[in-house]
Amino acid sequence: RQEIGMANPPVESMKELPSGAGKIPHINAVILGDSLASEEHDLVFPSADFSREALVSSPEQYLQMYRRSIEDPAGFWSEIASQFYWKQKWGQPVFSQNLDVRKGPIHIEWFKGGVTNICYNCLDRNVESGNADKVAIYWEPNEPGPHDSLTYAQLLHRVCQLANYLKDIGVKKGDAVVIYLPMLMELPIAMLACARIGAVHSVVFAGFSAESLAQRIVDCKPKVVITCNAVKRGPKPIHLKDIVDTAIDESAKSGVSVDVCLTYENQSALKRESTKWREGRDVWWQDVVPNYPTTCEVEWVDAEDPLFLLYTSGSTGKPKGVLHTVGGYMVYTAITFKYAFDYKPSDIYWCTADCGWITGHSYVTYGPLLNGATVVVYEGAPNYPDSGRCWDIVDKFKYVTRYSRKSLRVLGSVGEPINPTAWRWFFNVVGDSRCPISDTWWQTETGGFMITPLPGAWPQKPGSATFPFFGVQPVIVDEKGVEIEGECSGYLCVKDSWPGAFRTLYGDHERYETTYFKPFPGYYFSGDGCSRDKDGYHWLTGRVDDVINVSGHRIGTAEVESALVSHPNCAEAAVVGVEHEVKGQGIYAFVTLVEGVPYSEELRKSLIVTVRQQIGAFAAPDKIHWAPGLPKTRSGKIMRRILRKIASKQLDELGDTSTLADPGVVKQLIELADR
Ligand code: PRX
Repeated sequence: RQEIGMANPPVESMKELPSGAGKIPHINAVILGDSLASEEHDLVFPSADFSREALVSSPEQYLQMYRRSIEDPAGFWSEIASQFYWKQKWGQPVFSQNLDVRKGPIHIEWFKGGVTNICYNCLDRNVESGNADKVAIYWEPNEPGPHDSLTYAQLLHRVCQLANYLKDIGVKKGDAVVIYLPMLMELPIAMLACARIGAVHSVVFAGFSAESLAQRIVDCKPKVVITCNAVKRGPKPIHLKDIVDTAIDESAKSGVSVDVCLTYENQSALKRESTKWREGRDVWWQDVVPNYPTTCEVEWVDAEDPLFLLYTSGSTGKPKGVLHTVGGYMVYTAITFKYAFDYKPSDIYWCTADCGWITGHSYVTYGPLLNGATVVVYEGAPNYPDSGRCWDIVDKFKYVTRYSRKSLRVLGSVGEPINPTAWRWFFNVVGDSRCPISDTWWQTETGGFMITPLPGAWPQKPGSATFPFFGVQPVIVDEKGVEIEGECSGYLCVKDSWPGAFRTLYGDHERYETTYFKPFPGYYFSGDGCSRDKDGYHWLTGRVDDVINVSGHRIGTAEVESALVSHPNCAEAAVVGVEHEVKGQGIYAFVTLVEGVPYSEELRKSLIVTVRQQIGAFAAPDKIHWAPGLPKTRSGKIMRRILRKIASKQLDELGDTSTLADPGVVKQLIELADR
């Protein structure tokens, strides 16, 4: 049994948490250990030492700040925004918004009229304020061995050289640049270089296939694609440049041409001699970029100018280009980073996410660098050469004996619900029952953390994302869109805007309104289910739409279905998420074949290859279930509820199947489950 310090006597004032968030009960001590491990919802307190040093060290302090952020958002956020450099201060009002479709078009603006630059605030501001020689990035290569690093001054130089090159080849403010790079230092460098000149970066995760990359190129029409020739994740090299070549050819068929493919030679994976090359279009990074000056004038932009596009999966149709703007995103990522990780300037911070996803944008690149932090960027896979690699890296950058993990202070978790058992393992084993866990709930769309522990402020409950960040008003609504107070379960929505909110879906404002603001008028709808317990803690229960979350990768069932039906032998497909011990959710595909085509192992493999080619390896179905027919209503709608039950073998919970056009298909499907 282990006793965890009682740093923050729970207070009655938690009662005043808005939107029915409830109170923290009176508990005089918390004992963690095996005997209580099976009990749900036990509280885990930060140690007294941790809380004493924390930025927010008590529920009262949180409450006071939270209350102010809701009652006086303009004042609260202006104060935070003033910590950054603005060439010109924002105008009035500080923000304007309409989140209610019944009152006209949805719009969100923060700090409009303010003129700034996020790259300047990440780099120049830190260099000028005494952090020039502080390490900005430690880069750990795939192969264990010597690492690389860049100080803030060196990073600024590298960014300026690339920015100058991009300007020289004609990239201007507002132009899109597609970045298809693995976790090399050149990835954050490329993002920052775009931001410096006001170009809009669109990073595509380097695990996406040529077709997915082409789809994104066609949507945002970049003049330049930045990539590298190859990368090694684990033992085998992946030839990224070949994928880019195919994608650019594919885009040309839709009339979108790319003028320049700037290619970094990643020598540890592939030599330039072995790289396929298109003269006239392809340029080696190392041949041009280092020749440019190490200073580059900043392009000053409006707070509401676009910063980046990031495509994410929805429940229908093609991926959505989530658009974030400069000012609000800057303020929000910086401040959420600082508080959720209780950041101290001496910390070395490592986020294992890839910059191809929002977590890498907000919490590898922008949030930490805006705070002058030292970040670790790791090229490889977490289990290469073995599953101890993460702890090896943790210890390496603190120079202590192998796997001691003594340097760890705060742990984080994101992207999917963390179950209490995994939470306890993370807490007890990785963190030696010493480090609070910031289980942060948020989304590509929200820009930054929305519901998150502040690690020194209050006790945690294993598996709960706890309470809202400053300025965020989560509400839980029922299916009619009516807000439910107190202890409840329902659909998670957000009332009012926050600075980091996305402003639109690129080129499709109507889809923005329809997807996020029409389901529950008056609110932003997250697509997630959530319950709130009697103490006001939030428990995320997963997506309530047709989006599945595989190892934290967000995938629309519709995307996988359309990849499957593009196979010449596939007539119809329906995909559902199914619980998976390791990945959280697995992909389960029901497939109807073209008349006369027999089931075969070969065909199963070829269907999986098709999905890998069209989306990426991470979207490959875990199971193909042959389906002579699919359960449909008389109007032809697939009843996914029934498919989910069949996939998860909950056959006694199939419910009413009498409304199906052909109730017989259900029996057939059950019979074919193990074929
Ligand atoms: O379902 C929620 C889940 O991840 C979705 C957002 O995915 P994406 O936009 O790719 O961003 C991932 C990184 C923020 C959400 O709709 N999710 C995210 N964080 C959590 C979570 N589910 C439970 N607990 C979380 N902490």
